[in-house]
Amino acid sequence: MMTQVRSLGLHGVEGYEVTAECDLSRGLPNFEIVGLPDTAVKEARERVRAAVKNCGFPFPVSRITVNLAPADRKKGGTIYDLPILVGILSAGEQLPPPDPKAAFLGELSLSGALRSVSGMLPMALAARRAGIETLYVPADAAPEATLAKGLTVYPVAHVSELVAHLKGEAPLSPAAAWTPDGESGELPDFAEVKGQEQAKRALEIAAAGGHNVLMIGPPGSGKSMLARRLPSILPELSEREALEATAVHSVLGLTSREHPLLTRRPFRAPHHTISAAGMAGGGVPLIRPGEISLAHRGVLFLDELPEFHKDVLEVLRQPMEEGTVQITRASGSEVFPARFMLVCAMNPCKCGWYGHGQRCKCAPRDVEKYQSQISGPLLDRVDLTVEVDAPDFDTLSERPSGESSAVIKARVDAARAVQARRFGPGGVPCNAQMGRGELEEFCPLDEACQGLLKSAFQRMGLTARSYDRVLRVARTIADLDGGGDIRASHLAEALQYRSSGWLTR
Ligand SMILES: Nc1ncnc2c1ncn2[C@@H]1O[C@H](COP(=O)(O)OP(=O)(O)OP(=O)(O)O)[C@@H](O)[C@H]1O
Ligand SMILES: [Mg+2]
Ligand SMILES: [Zn+2]
Repeated sequence: MMTQVRSLGLHGVEGYEVTAECDLSRGLPNFEIVGLPDTAVKEARERVRAAVKNCGFPFPVSRITVNLAPADRKKGGTIYDLPILVGILSAGEQLPPPDPKAAFLGELSLSGALRSVSGMLPMALAARRAGIETLYVPADAAPEATLAKGLTVYPVAHVSELVAHLKGEAPLSPAAAWTPDGESGELPDFAEVKGQEQAKRALEIAAAGGHNVLMIGPPGSGKSMLARRLPSILPELSEREALEATAVHSVLGLTSREHPLLTRRPFRAPHHTISAAGMAGGGVPLIRPGEISLAHRGVLFLDELPEFHKDVLEVLRQPMEEGTVQITRASGSEVFPARFMLVCAMNPCKCGWYGHGQRCKCAPRDVEKYQSQISGPLLDRVDLTVEVDAPDFDTLSERPSGESSAVIKARVDAARAVQARRFGPGGVPCNAQMGRGELEEFCPLDEACQGLLKSAFQRMGLTARSYDRVLRVARTIADLDGGGDIRASHLAEALQYRSSGWLTR
């Protein structure tokens, strides 16, 4: 007797349908799993055998063959425990044949209890695409599975519950769709930062248009403090963006039962000792997403930029242009999403006080060496360079602090609304992602602007890439100013963020 049980699998951060075909036939008792299973999948045999027995069923004395189709794709992990168990019990006629519109997944403990799995969201989305209507998943993963919408999700805590349900003895009740209840915990607020108006302005522009920022300045001036306040002024995630960002976290097992959906933009601040594989993604045999993919639709913050290994910074270049990262290993190749805003902070030299006269003790050669850690092509991808100087005593002792994040965010949201109207539903999400076509269409320059740009180009030695970046930033500044045409004042402000006297190049 043969049965087919539908299930799902993960490839990178995408789910796909898997069918567990279970065949019981006469012959020497044996239990074989085929379809490129890894060790964890093969070990399902022991878990399924124990779980069946511990639920009070006899384990079939037959020749059991399980094929996980499509058989040419590598299967990993423990999610096939449940579909294999259901397949064996229904092939042995101990359970009715499973509903062809239902899918099963989950890891079994020896007692028959179900354990949660990672990657639930992308698999649930794949189930919906495949026309599956009902999902049976571990109870802990059920809230996340409901995010895919339109599926009936049954939370299963123990196999005996599932058996009673499938036999019609004690029906399970479907999980209620999970809805966000507001994320707890206040974000740090810009009102706490005294002075630093220029840096706050640059971060506001960055948030409004999705641009990359570099903050440069002496120790203790508030660079890290400013960066950590950026999330409080970022626009909300759209539903699609939230699902994309959650999928990456889900695959790495970073989502929780209580709050399965990311409702805030991710803010990732990896330490400077991170490896290139930790940054871009990697691993053997399963390739896993790295920090740049965890920062997808959010912020990647690199504090103490020159301390990062050169090869770690190099891997950022391609993803910053394309919004995806491709990782190729002997075991195969994966493409992960990686559309993030880069925010960096650095001191101008080892002692931190370059540009402050006698206070800097570094030799000019050492300053250059320190700064040369950051490659030109990476600096070229920064849209806004801003100097964050140490605040003076009067600023620090001043009582009333600056604008709150809520006030700044309202301006950011207004500028994003201008962009949404301009680009339409199918267009790019923000100015930073404008391509040549959009730049031509939406950034016309009058004669005054053309003249300004031409002289700046000659004076500052800008590259073609930085030309486009200046235009995008100018567009955002104009959008913060009501959304009309780019004027010379907008362009002049954008140009001012192209360089810093504290950079030797
Ligand atoms: N503008 C400011 N307003 C209020 N507090 C500030 C300001 N600048 C610095 N501070 C205080 O100084 C501390 C150090 O600031 P922060 O860590 O952000 O400096 P930094 O520029 O990142 O320095 P480093 O270059 O050494 O990393 C902050 O935690 C804060 O208490
Ligand atoms: Mg710092
Ligand atoms: Zn110095």
